[in-house]
Amino acid sequence: MATHTWAEPYKIKAVELIRMTTREQREEAIREAGYNTFLLRSEDVYIDLLTDSGCGAMSDRQWAGMMCGDEAYAGSKNFYHLRDTIENYYSYKHTVPTHQGRGAEHILSQTLISEGDFVPGNMYFTTTRYHQELAGGTFVDVIIDEAHDAESEHPFKGNVDIEKLDALVERVGAENIPYVCIATCVNMAGGQPLSLANLRQVRLWCDKHGVLLVHDMTRVAENAYFIQCREPAYRDRTVREIVYEICSLTDIATMSAKKDALVNIGGFLAMNDEKLYEKACALVVVYEGLHTYGGMAGRDMEALAIGITESVDDDHIRARVGQVEYLGAALQRAGVPIVTPVGGHAVFLDALRILPHIPQDCFPAQALAAALYEESGVRSMERGVISAGRNKDSGENYMPKLELVRLTIPRRVYTQAHMDVTAAAVIRVAEVAETISGLRFVYEPEMLRFFQARFERRQAGEVKQRDTSAR
Ligand code: F0G
Repeated sequence: MATHTWAEPYKIKAVELIRMTTREQREEAIREAGYNTFLLRSEDVYIDLLTDSGCGAMSDRQWAGMMCGDEAYAGSKNFYHLRDTIENYYSYKHTVPTHQGRGAEHILSQTLISEGDFVPGNMYFTTTRYHQELAGGTFVDVIIDEAHDAESEHPFKGNVDIEKLDALVERVGAENIPYVCIATCVNMAGGQPLSLANLRQVRLWCDKHGVLLVHDMTRVAENAYFIQCREPAYRDRTVREIVYEICSLTDIATMSAKKDALVNIGGFLAMNDEKLYEKACALVVVYEGLHTYGGMAGRDMEALAIGITESVDDDHIRARVGQVEYLGAALQRAGVPIVTPVGGHAVFLDALRILPHIPQDCFPAQALAAALYEESGVRSMERGVISAGRNKDSGENYMPKLELVRLTIPRRVYTQAHMDVTAAAVIRVAEVAETISGLRFVYEPEMLRFFQARFERRQAGEVKQRDTSAR
């Protein structure tokens, strides 16, 4: 029965040609890129699973919307269309467009966080935590312990541990907690959802302590789909209804529209509170643009308004998550260690189990991503110790329990055959895992180092020591 498969609810109208490369070409390319997949040229990539951000395929309706861009400096009609769509689908009354998610995080952090504050969240995200720290705050992880265990089968590994919130308020006082930040479908945990039952508890906790609740809604539709599948009370509700309910339980949202909302660029900060909206408008004109376009062109706001409506369609989201689960199932059948349950936007390879001979301070996930590219031209992303960075006070590397390589699936871009090629490549690399050696830094940027860091390969059998090289 068609409705029970994940087959795509669209057909292809235009294609982009991609290039096959030889192993020699790829060895050269990754060496030149300092063994960092962010530094590869996309021309040298066959299947690009670096990220699901800004690389999705827009629909014909979105492209038609691009032609209807009202490129007025102030008061573009596309802004009002976007604002009304956000209120209709996500409940938030006020919208401040930004060039992408981190633009919204910047404005929010500068508006609400004071020096010495603590910001609890269900696991960190790289740019989110960095903006909290820039504003003088300290991030505190309050996600359930199961989220840090790649093998736990908990259906809602994105849930908040309320006892961790209680412990924090006891330690620092509610007056030093400007807000709790919850992400839907937690990226760094492996694309894991939180449940509506848990979100309601967090809402009650925030009301009790007079603390705001901020929602990183970058992947809210994927989270809503998992709620529909796994939380019995919501089995008969549409993804659109569940998305609306999640949003209406929170006060403020930051959005990277480059993911769930199916556009190549854009984001926003949204909220209900009038005073906060005024403050955000005052800042957005300094850092992004006038409050009716933020960092976006009129045509981009139009494509986003249409993308939001498509993103909450049940058939769309079933196909989107279904494709990710298809890849995950192929790897599980072959015994490749991955984070389970499979997440909404990506399959995460467990580098600690695939490369047990490489200590974490020789960067197994970074080495695995480089090896996978060399093998196949499939580009993936490190999500382990390199992404985690250093503690801002001690300068020590954070050593996350999850040392992962993310195979991130762009929306509406690749086919089932591409997933088969990817699975076969990962399986081949896992079979020769012991031939892969660790890496050391040759260049380590101070901020968000994973984007631009460069590495060299350690010699096989080299004495493993704590990495204290170039900072
Ligand atoms: N929040 C989450 C959960 C994200 O995944 C991202 C971006 C952002 C915020 C920042 O948004 O990139 O539009 O400025 N994640 C991308 C990724 C980069 O590959 O996971 P942005």
